[in-house]
Amino acid sequence: MRCFRHVFFICIVMTLFSLVYVLDHFASTVEDRGRWREQSRAALRRHDSGLPLRKTRGSGGQHGELHRCKSVSYWSPYWRLPADVCGVNCFMETSYGEGLTKEAPDEQSHLAVVACGPRLEETLTMLKSALLFSKKPLHLYIFAENELHGSFKNAVSTMHLIKFNFTIFPITFPNDNEKEWKKLFKPCASQRLFLPLILQDVDSLLYVDTDILFLQPVEDLWTLLSHFNSSQLAAMAPEHEEPRIGWYNRFARHPYYGRTGINSGVMLMNMTRIRAKYFKNDMTTIPLRWEEMLMPLLQKYKLNITWGDQDLLNIIFHHNPESLFVFPCEWNYRPDHCIYGSNCHTADQQGVFILHGNRGVFHDDKQPAFRAVYNAIQKYQFGEDLDKFLLDPLEGSLSSTTHTYCGRSSHLFTKRLKQSILSLQQEVPHRR
Ligand SMILES: *[C@@H]1O[C@H](CO)[C@@H](O)[C@H](O)[C@H]1NC(C)=O
Ligand SMILES: *[C@@H]1O[C@H](CO)[C@@H](O)[C@H](O)[C@H]1NC(C)=O
Ligand SMILES: *[C@@H]1O[C@H](CO)[C@@H](O)[C@H](O)[C@H]1NC(C)=O
Ligand SMILES: *[C@@H]1O[C@H](CO)[C@@H](O)[C@H](O)[C@H]1NC(C)=O
Repeated sequence: MRCFRHVFFICIVMTLFSLVYVLDHFASTVEDRGRWREQSRAALRRHDSGLPLRKTRGSGGQHGELHRCKSVSYWSPYWRLPADVCGVNCFMETSYGEGLTKEAPDEQSHLAVVACGPRLEETLTMLKSALLFSKKPLHLYIFAENELHGSFKNAVSTMHLIKFNFTIFPITFPNDNEKEWKKLFKPCASQRLFLPLILQDVDSLLYVDTDILFLQPVEDLWTLLSHFNSSQLAAMAPEHEEPRIGWYNRFARHPYYGRTGINSGVMLMNMTRIRAKYFKNDMTTIPLRWEEMLMPLLQKYKLNITWGDQDLLNIIFHHNPESLFVFPCEWNYRPDHCIYGSNCHTADQQGVFILHGNRGVFHDDKQPAFRAVYNAIQKYQFGEDLDKFLLDPLEGSLSSTTHTYCGRSSHLFTKRLKQSILSLQQEVPHRR
């Protein structure tokens, strides 16, 4: 009997011990998460000051702390960072190190592009179209391979019609899988997936492919951010209007958003929300943060995806449809919208706001109407008369494209452009 009581007593003691251990462990896990979230929140509160060129500071004592708190650390410290460019690690140091104050939301639009390889001229033409028609200040984030930094700096510095700032960044990838990311899609295109992590100080960002042209001020798209409901954190256009010629609904071997998928060539992001959200996914039952989700997603689907990072975005928003704001096709008008006759009905009424020459149509002969717009903007020099040196030559060359379906819709290409030009001419005698 005494022996039994003895054993019983020991059991009770041990149970108590394990209970205390479990509770303690749980508490510290929660605390860790809490602290990391608190820190990221603090980092985010520091609204972009418009001057992202920060000197890399010494690697103070906080590094260990950061890495411990961050559940997945893809970043290798000081990887390929030119001295005057702020990369991931210097943002961390600056954000975590300084007193963090909330600043008033800024009026400017933040526009990012990733340009690699032979995309210099195309990117500059895109930037020219952005600067040409915008009336509000712009902040440009140009991600480029190191060899191109000098050319960008020279070219962009000579464009000064409106107030704008620009920062040039190196391409940075998660170190472990750098090669895999780089070959995932056209060189460097998957960089965009990491922008919420690289530009931690930036609240919201408009990402565009290099092969797009603004025919309408950037700030008009930017204002859509304020139309997001509380669960939306990114905005894109559908990949297709017409399911019969849609790609995803006919060929995809992975989940995709909605009826025909989404196109990521023009992507508006509230990155504050992207960084804060826990995303539903089909890899675990636990919702994951953005940076925790990307590589497992690539690993799971790499054999099934065709269009690289756009496919990953489709998978993500398939599982989180409440987080996506879908804007209409005139904001991302592609040859698919006119190649077999016009199927972007909102553009039929409003005109084209952003022209997206995907699959190289700005440079080859497949869609002469797209190429004509590109050539006209590329040839135009800042300061020249817009009617005489942009609109007239463009209408001239478009008139010789009416043998193609897109050429027949090409009055839609100039409809908004004319309004943008008119509105500039009305307001700006002092700007030139
Ligand atoms: C550019 O950066 C400077 C320095 O931070 C800032 O004062 C200015 O408002 C910025 N301008 C624009 C147009 O972003
Ligand atoms: C990839 O595609 C194959 C063939 O359609 C399919 O059986 C498989 O389930 C897909 N893999 C994933 C992860 O969806
Ligand atoms: C982005 O979302 C955050 C958090 O909801 C919000 O505070 C911020 O104002 C949003 N940014 C814009 C430009 O709407
Ligand atoms: C926001 O809009 C999306 C798309 O219409 C919708 O699915 C979602 O439920 C909305 N969220 C809220 C909080 O109303």
